[in-house]
Amino acid sequence: MSTALVVLAAGKGTRMNSDLPKVLHPIAQASMLEHALVAGRALDPERIIVVAGHGAEAVRAAVAEIDESAEVVLQTEQLGTAHAVDRARDALKDFSGDVVVLYGDTPFVSADTLERMVAARASADLVVLGFHAADPARYGRLVMQGDSLERIVEFKDASEDERAIGFCNSGLMACDASLMFDLLAKIGNENASGEYYLTDLVELARAEGRAVTAVACDESETLGVNSRLDLAVADTVFQTKARQELMELGVTLMAPETVYLAFDTVIGRDTVIEPNVVFGPGVTVESGAVIRAFSHLEGCHVSRGSKVGPYARLRPGAELAEDTHIGNFVEIKNAEIAEGAKVNHLSYIGDASIGAGSNIGAGTITCNYDGVMKHRTTIGARSFIGSNTLLVAPVTLGDETMTGSGTVVTKDVEAGALAIARPRQDTKPGYARKLMDMLRAKKARLTKGSE
Ligand code: UD1
Ligand code: MG
Repeated sequence: MSTALVVLAAGKGTRMNSDLPKVLHPIAQASMLEHALVAGRALDPERIIVVAGHGAEAVRAAVAEIDESAEVVLQTEQLGTAHAVDRARDALKDFSGDVVVLYGDTPFVSADTLERMVAARASADLVVLGFHAADPARYGRLVMQGDSLERIVEFKDASEDERAIGFCNSGLMACDASLMFDLLAKIGNENASGEYYLTDLVELARAEGRAVTAVACDESETLGVNSRLDLAVADTVFQTKARQELMELGVTLMAPETVYLAFDTVIGRDTVIEPNVVFGPGVTVESGAVIRAFSHLEGCHVSRGSKVGPYARLRPGAELAEDTHIGNFVEIKNAEIAEGAKVNHLSYIGDASIGAGSNIGAGTITCNYDGVMKHRTTIGARSFIGSNTLLVAPVTLGDETMTGSGTVVTKDVEAGALAIARPRQDTKPGYARKLMDMLRAKKARLTKGSE
């Protein structure tokens, strides 16, 4: 059976109080929309239709980045969830199979739950995803009769008895495409909100004698986001789960609640993550590495046995081979650090490659930017770069080179050579004491004069 996802993402999200469309707000550094689309991928959908309205251009751009095959259709006026799904009618006119409706602002639905919904279609024409709510609040209520879902009643339209029901509508559903679009055409807007309710599908299907059922999932999966507070709660939920999963995979988190993960962070077994480490998107850390406290990693790869931090910053394109050491107040960007190389203190290494076993002294800086363009620095294997060396790129140093402390390297250095470029030292015997005596005498005169 082929599947088409219809992802509702047209709503304004007034309570976010934001210029950014609600579905583009990030949780663990991926938009809610991306979370929803990634979950939907578990169904191996033949088609993906995103219904956009508020901020449609931004949504279109984001969708193109997440999944090139996804299509965006417009809902210029937000007349309700049924109206929104109906916007996909033209795009899906040649499609036969199941339509699965997802919400762009409900990012945590699991692959397993989506698979259970589709599996339940074997015995029902329409399947709705419900959950038992700790606080049913203003959710639509699912009116069940045994296994059969009779109707969904919106909170605003519900009687006291119906409001007492704890089984709630997540909004997600699965239905045969042609049945869904036939029924959608019959939905009106005579209700407390004057909106076209997708939930009316249930009663219409039942009136035709169709089988309708509900599948239940854990409430945490249906967590919707309407405000910045909800967003923060959703992020916390994500973090808690992601940290747990890492620990189960054999990663040590010394203070789990202080480690901030991205949606795609990958960390290998027996790696230790000290407190207060932040992972941006695109980080992979192999086994047996140590990421020490207060480090910030983004778009980088750390190989087995490497040590990073404390207070290190790995920016996009930082590639650390095995057993490297990146120490405190070191920033690495777009640079390969080969096996066993060390950059231990106060350095900036950008647009560079550092050969195996090389040692980069404290305060070394690759001057990679001339104000207009970026240039590369290449350092060979087993080289020793003295403290406070400035490497004015583009520049290449061969294997087993050395630089004197404080050197400004502007020309290539051949293998085995020492480069030293700094004023020569001039030492004047006895001068320090003489100067000190003069200064003390001067101070004494001045103090006496003011008495
Ligand atoms: C909906 C359900 C309710 C359910 C709740 C779960 C209906 C009528 N009600 O109510 O039973 O308990 O979700 O969260 O379906 N959207 C559009 N275009 C529109 C309207 C909405 O794209 O014209 C999108 C929104 O951006 C959002 C989703 O559909 O992603 C749900 O819309 P929302 O207005 O939040 O519906 P609820 O009132 O919460
Ligand atoms: Mg809602």
